[in-house]
Amino acid sequence: MPQHATNKPFYVTTPIYYVNDRPHIGHVYTTTVADVVARYHRLRGEDTFFLTGTDEHAAKVVDAAAERGLTAQQWADRNADEFESTFRRLGLTHDDFIRTSQPRHTQRVQQYVKQLLDSGDVYLGDYEGWYDAGQEEYVPENKAKDYDFKSPINGKPLVKKKEQNYFFKLSAYADDLLKLLDGGEVAGQTFDVQPVARKNEVAARIREGLNDVPISRHAVDDAAAKWGISVPGDEKHTIYVWIDALFNYLSTIDVDDPDDRRKYWPADVHLIAKDILWFHAVIWPALLLALRRQQGSEWIDLPKLVYAHSFWIAEGQKMSKSLGNFIDLEKIDSYVETFGLDALRYFLASNGPMGTTDSDFAEAKFIDVYNSDLANTFGNCFSRVSNMCAKYFDGKLPAAGPEIELAFAQLDPTMAKGATMQPNGPWVETRALALTASMNQMDLFDAIGEAMLIIRVVDNYIEKTAPFKLAKDPNNLPQVATILYNCAEALRIASVLLWPVIPHKVEALWQRIGCGHYVDQLSETGRGDFDKWIVWGQLAPGTPIEKGDALFPRHQPAKA
Ligand code: MSP
Repeated sequence: MPQHATNKPFYVTTPIYYVNDRPHIGHVYTTTVADVVARYHRLRGEDTFFLTGTDEHAAKVVDAAAERGLTAQQWADRNADEFESTFRRLGLTHDDFIRTSQPRHTQRVQQYVKQLLDSGDVYLGDYEGWYDAGQEEYVPENKAKDYDFKSPINGKPLVKKKEQNYFFKLSAYADDLLKLLDGGEVAGQTFDVQPVARKNEVAARIREGLNDVPISRHAVDDAAAKWGISVPGDEKHTIYVWIDALFNYLSTIDVDDPDDRRKYWPADVHLIAKDILWFHAVIWPALLLALRRQQGSEWIDLPKLVYAHSFWIAEGQKMSKSLGNFIDLEKIDSYVETFGLDALRYFLASNGPMGTTDSDFAEAKFIDVYNSDLANTFGNCFSRVSNMCAKYFDGKLPAAGPEIELAFAQLDPTMAKGATMQPNGPWVETRALALTASMNQMDLFDAIGEAMLIIRVVDNYIEKTAPFKLAKDPNNLPQVATILYNCAEALRIASVLLWPVIPHKVEALWQRIGCGHYVDQLSETGRGDFDKWIVWGQLAPGTPIEKGDALFPRHQPAKA
């Protein structure tokens, strides 16, 4: 797994979504995870570029538009607007939203395909086989037989295709791809796919043999195929939607002024789900290897990582409109209304299908996670600390007094027995470094776990040291001061760690503990100062600690 060098700007992408239909939880999920990753890198002070957008030249967009008496472009405009406004409404901070029908994209795609035609990597040939219109995928004869000539995804009949197509010489890249997936270098380039089980699946399929792939559709007698980007110099052919779509990652940053956005290339992470792994782990790097051999394109390195997460199911079953368990926009909005935006983000990030198993989006689970992690842990811990500051220290953070026997490390259940116990500052900072390592591995669960661990330990520390009992005797107030200072400082650092996941509540917390300057810095420069902000001892004694409303009020399910 590549370590992200901090001197290269950071670039994260999501798939670009089909605009035949409205956004749903799957789209919101991948884009939210990318947002957490982007925010994390901005928090570290890195120049970060986060891209999402829409994939518009699909046959199913033409069909969906026709059903409504609209042109494909009209339907695409409407849905692309909805994707973008949904993402904005959900507080997602993409730096650009690419639409494949925009000239900035279509021009570049034609340029790339022209280069590949000129170099012979793309050639005209004959295709005979099948097409899965729902998936926009070519299905070779033998595979189609396995599928009983029906789409394995939606069960609709495959469409027979016999046509002249342009082909990409994918077969020529099999050895290079295998070498890359094995951790090797090709022309000084590396390329990784994660999780490792997915990488192994892809490598096994490559070993079965790679055919050249059609990269165009015949636009003469196929109305749907006319909706797309023409093959340069041959209007009869439209560039296959998947080739068109993959190039979005490059076209967006390949702007005329090379000093402007090219610095973001290569992508550090292409975040996708397992359904579209083949295109990203095989076709995409092969296209780039072909392209970067062309004069003037030497800068086009391979992306560092393709990360394919798994799928959300809902209430224990595959999401489907007919089962009524589809987590659509209305459902998403109702969760946001009841629990708040950050609660949705937290649930998606901490319980989503990162890794190779699918996750269940179930209401009972959502409420459970909300109450236990956000209301009873994060929110409640801050309430306890701020209440005691109000009660014993006039609403101000006291200066730490004499040292307390108990250290946080002693309450850390992950600490090996007999390990040397770090003092509080180094212990908390170690948790922050562990989070960094987890984020570099795209391990969101572990990363969030590190921050939550700090808060759980603080809670336990309050139980064990019992400042509320000590305070009954005024002679003990110096110890109470130490306890509260330690708790507030640990909470501050935990909140920095949680900012990428629950930024709005964390910013509210910062305003209450005298860290409003973090909010100002992030909003003015777009970047934080992670390495500085996680250093122990920054809360100034005497700072007013404002209790405010509960950050995450406990949710009482309505009685049936
Ligand atoms: N347009 C192509 C992608 C082109 S990328 C160059 C496409 N679009 S899509 O609208 O079907 O989106 C697929 C992606 O949406 C998945 O890879 C995943 O990121 C997300 N999800 C869709 N359904 C999902 C779930 N049920 N669960 C989690 N994410 C899923 O494919």
